[in-house]
Amino acid sequence: MPTKRILLIIGGGIAAYKSIELVRLLRKAGMTVRCVLTRAGEQFVTPLTLAALSENKVYTSLFDLKDEVEMGHIQLSREADLVVVAPATADLLAKMATGQADDLATTLLLATDKPVLAAPAMNVRMWLHAATQRNIATLRGDGVTVMAPDEGEMACGEYGPGRLPEPEAIKQAIDEALAHAPASVPLTGQPDFAPSRHRPLYGRRILVTAGPTHEPIDPVRYIANRSSGKQGFAIAAAAAEAGAEVLLVAGPVPLPTPPGVTRVDVETAREMADEVAAGLPSDAAIMVAAVADWRAADTHAQKIKKDGSGQVPPLALAENPDILAGLAKSAQRPALLIGFAAETNDVIDHARAKLAKKGCDWIVANDVSADPMGGETNRVHIVSQDGVDSWDRLPKQAVARKLMEKIADELDARLPPARD
Ligand code: CTP
Repeated sequence: MPTKRILLIIGGGIAAYKSIELVRLLRKAGMTVRCVLTRAGEQFVTPLTLAALSENKVYTSLFDLKDEVEMGHIQLSREADLVVVAPATADLLAKMATGQADDLATTLLLATDKPVLAAPAMNVRMWLHAATQRNIATLRGDGVTVMAPDEGEMACGEYGPGRLPEPEAIKQAIDEALAHAPASVPLTGQPDFAPSRHRPLYGRRILVTAGPTHEPIDPVRYIANRSSGKQGFAIAAAAAEAGAEVLLVAGPVPLPTPPGVTRVDVETAREMADEVAAGLPSDAAIMVAAVADWRAADTHAQKIKKDGSGQVPPLALAENPDILAGLAKSAQRPALLIGFAAETNDVIDHARAKLAKKGCDWIVANDVSADPMGGETNRVHIVSQDGVDSWDRLPKQAVARKLMEKIADELDARLPPARD
């Protein structure tokens, strides 16, 4: 296989230091890396460090290229197989979206005929700002793959989405983009909206459930579980990134809606079942929610009070509908129906039993013995009638993206003529 060539554009942000690890990972995988540092990027990492790690010249300004005989900017922008922007700052994304070219990085991005992958990093408010979201929608419409940022504590002390995805997750996205990258992006003057390997779920409708459900006992108490919703939200984000029309039916979690995703919030299992039914038809459904198996048989309109007698009130339970099993039997069963299962022991055996019990096509079995619910990584096994596909432990975003590739291939096999 020929050596893959990456042109890595490093924007100015505190996360720029992670680009050093990314270069190391790409080199370790045998790729050639050429780095371009923006003026702001130079404030965070030095050209010398990047040159040493990439074993290549590092470019910082248009004037580095004044010897057009050696390497002109057009050539630099086109000799790569993939252009990667990491970190992609709010400013850089805005310039990309509006086609500005006032320095080397933006000039290369405008001149390139190669696929572009952007890994954003910025303050949470900047990420959530309508202008940034607009720019991302524009870029995705133009065919740029914009990764969803990670969520967490930021260097500035705030909390939320905006952190640069981990280098390992960016490397994973690069591998996927390279696997399907066209030799060059067609020069049509119009964005390429046709389904492409770059947007492998274009034209597909995907339904995702995520988070826990809350089952009320009285106005102040409820039955719940520890689901954080992170894996389901990452899956919805990855499906939108891959070009799908995504409906996310979410239990109560304080997570922001991923760009390009339509979200319906619910509280109880029965509400979730209703919204799932209302969201059909769908080409694939991915049921990641940790639905409460039971609800309180009677809900009290008023808060239950202690009467001082030491007697505890009885709590009778009723079984909730099994949304996944119900969907499997419905007339509108999606062509690909996927369940999730968090297990602590005998993971594969339990998953096989669940596959049969629920009537779905795949169970994504999640081994939670080492890493309890709410963590940032998952080790999953995809269990189907065809066998078991076990993946390494990966960040939840990387699991989501890898799953989208598998789903796209499966849908192409099951529903080939569905696209226009
Ligand atoms: N699920 C569902 N509706 C329910 C319960 C579960 O749709 N009432 C879905 C989940 O979203 C998940 C899959 O079924 O995709 C497996 O969930 P899990 O809780 O592991 O299944 P259970 O049948 O509840 O099995 P267990 O006894 O292990 O809790």
